[in-house]
Amino acid sequence: MPTAKKLKNKSGKKSGAAVKSEKKARATSSAQSGPSTIDTLLDEKRSFKPKAAFAKAANAKKEVYAQARRNPEQFWGKLAEELVWNKKWRQVCSFKAPDARWFVGGKLNITESCLDRHVETSRRNKAALIWEGEPGDKQTLTYYALYRQVNKFANVLKKLGINKGDRVAIYLPMIPELMITALACARIGAIHSVVFGGFSPESLRDRIVDLEAKLLITADGGYRRGQIIPLKHDADVALAECPSIEHVVIVKRGNFLLRIKDGRDHWYHRLMQEADNFCPPVYVDSEHPLFILYTSGTTGKPKGIMHSCGGYLTGVYATTKYVFDLKDDDVFWCTADIGWVTGHSYLVYGPTANGATQVMYEGSPDWPDRDRFWQIVEDNGVSIFYTAPTAIRAFMKWGEEWPNRHDLSTLRLLGTVGEPINPEAWIWYHEVIGKGNCPIVDTWWQTETGHILITPLPGVTTTRPGSATQPFPGIEAKILDDDGREVKKGGGYLAITKPWPGMLRGIWGDRERFVETYWSKWPGIYFPGDGARVDQQGYFWILGRVDDVINTAGHRISTMEVESALVEHESVVEAAVVGIPHDLKGECLAAFVTLGGSLEFDDKTAKRLTEFVARKIGAIAKPERIIHVPDLPKTRSGKIMRRLLRDIATGKILGDTTTLADPDILARIKKQYEED
Ligand code: WT7
Repeated sequence: MPTAKKLKNKSGKKSGAAVKSEKKARATSSAQSGPSTIDTLLDEKRSFKPKAAFAKAANAKKEVYAQARRNPEQFWGKLAEELVWNKKWRQVCSFKAPDARWFVGGKLNITESCLDRHVETSRRNKAALIWEGEPGDKQTLTYYALYRQVNKFANVLKKLGINKGDRVAIYLPMIPELMITALACARIGAIHSVVFGGFSPESLRDRIVDLEAKLLITADGGYRRGQIIPLKHDADVALAECPSIEHVVIVKRGNFLLRIKDGRDHWYHRLMQEADNFCPPVYVDSEHPLFILYTSGTTGKPKGIMHSCGGYLTGVYATTKYVFDLKDDDVFWCTADIGWVTGHSYLVYGPTANGATQVMYEGSPDWPDRDRFWQIVEDNGVSIFYTAPTAIRAFMKWGEEWPNRHDLSTLRLLGTVGEPINPEAWIWYHEVIGKGNCPIVDTWWQTETGHILITPLPGVTTTRPGSATQPFPGIEAKILDDDGREVKKGGGYLAITKPWPGMLRGIWGDRERFVETYWSKWPGIYFPGDGARVDQQGYFWILGRVDDVINTAGHRISTMEVESALVEHESVVEAAVVGIPHDLKGECLAAFVTLGGSLEFDDKTAKRLTEFVARKIGAIAKPERIIHVPDLPKTRSGKIMRRLLRDIATGKILGDTTTLADPDILARIKKQYEED
């Protein structure tokens, strides 16, 4: 891995200062109880001013902050006016915590903003989607072609009996049909729920059951690192226990073997051949649900986060325009899978609402080699690139020779999302990928927030590595303590103190949990579950999750979910999962388990358990380490003390142990941890 120092030496003038502050950061952190991201971030002093030429041409000007502050409703209202409405709203926002309504009384079909309006202009022939499959196959869809496909599939949906408000589950690889089918649902007011293709059959089943989905859209398979992911086969396993599903549509991605169930299963391409070219948009209320996307929470069951049409579209449209500075001649590439919210907001909806040209890639960044992404940037002249810190750390580890093989000079703006980015990775991204010329937007948001809430505005904001800087215009964030008092110095809880257009409208089928999770900490204020601090310049530094959720490789995994999967295994009696620092993933999972009877524990058992979790939830939830322990540390009331396990796993001095039922257990666990 190129050391931070080596990089900075290359980067000219700014580097001297960079090295100094870096050293200072290290010294500070090692002088304390042990290095931690928090310490390092706290001392970050490097800053990067916008370049004059960028600022001059930027979509965002400094004034937007003042405008939004003066009259937030007018600010959002004006942005909403840049979209297509069938009936104008009476009121921009009505909020009675925890319920918000945006663009009250308005009616729209959001595909008119994403498609119809572009085909009426010269954008008609502009590339909407430049897609590349992992094996190297390519496809470009113009706005007209995308519009056509979406209309046709909307007619297919109608033919299969899908109506406004019905739920459609989508379990596809990253192929154009993922975008087409999602937009087609929106065209007729059906609610889509995309399930990440890496999730297991059981995860798919749980979501379909919770949604009571009528239709599943899947593929015969997809490619990942040269392997075929047998999606339809996995879907069949799930469907054995999904009584609500009436039909299955299968996209033919390859020539993969599969079983067709007559009457239920249909080939996408056959249905499309017969479908009419035009499907009139179904106009829905601004508050009509657009999609449900599941995300991990602190208790076992994933939460179906609900987003609505008018507010969500306004939020993703506005943030795409200002944060990514999208222009008509840009080529935008958000590397996220549409299975996550990032792919919804900054692939399916935000960029299309802005009429952008974008790149979509099916596979892995290191297939067939570690320069695949840079090859794609070079081939397509990507100008705006949005990825996750975990990916950037992997690129760093692979070495700069991979990006250096390619012409990356078309890049003009870089973005990150998913977890706090460590300053070293930020600087590497800036120097090696951006060649010191591209502003970096570190964007903080969540599945629940729908769109970016805390972020620099390129051309306006002076950035500092590791800080997501400031709330987007119109957004109000604060750092509060448990009692809702503002924390002026040091860390506290991040709080969003005003409603915003893309806010979640609920958890599907669980009102109580919605109120309890997000709205019960302080009256009328949204609690995202993150810790943060604000510095003297008003910059926000996100410190990570404060609940039992682990952010691994930019994805939230609930420890409870993995624990419940583990205890389902016949040999596991109890399990406790904690997050431990990981070079590439930020955090990874360590699982402490107790086994039943006289079972032996060896590498094979560990592997079996890891595979078991992968099967139950998906490979992203695999524990990096499984540690067999005689017992778990518990309070006298029987609560597992995960924080002590975390201390053991991170080599920290143990915190308060006075409430432990069996104080001797820790020494034994520690010994086991060091031996395993
Ligand atoms: C959690 C949300 C939003 C799409 C990707 C993840 C963490 C996200 C940042 C950032 C620090 C970040 C937070 C947040 N997070 N972006 N720029 N800096 N932390 O969506 O799965 O809903 O996870 O990701 O902890 O709460 P998600």
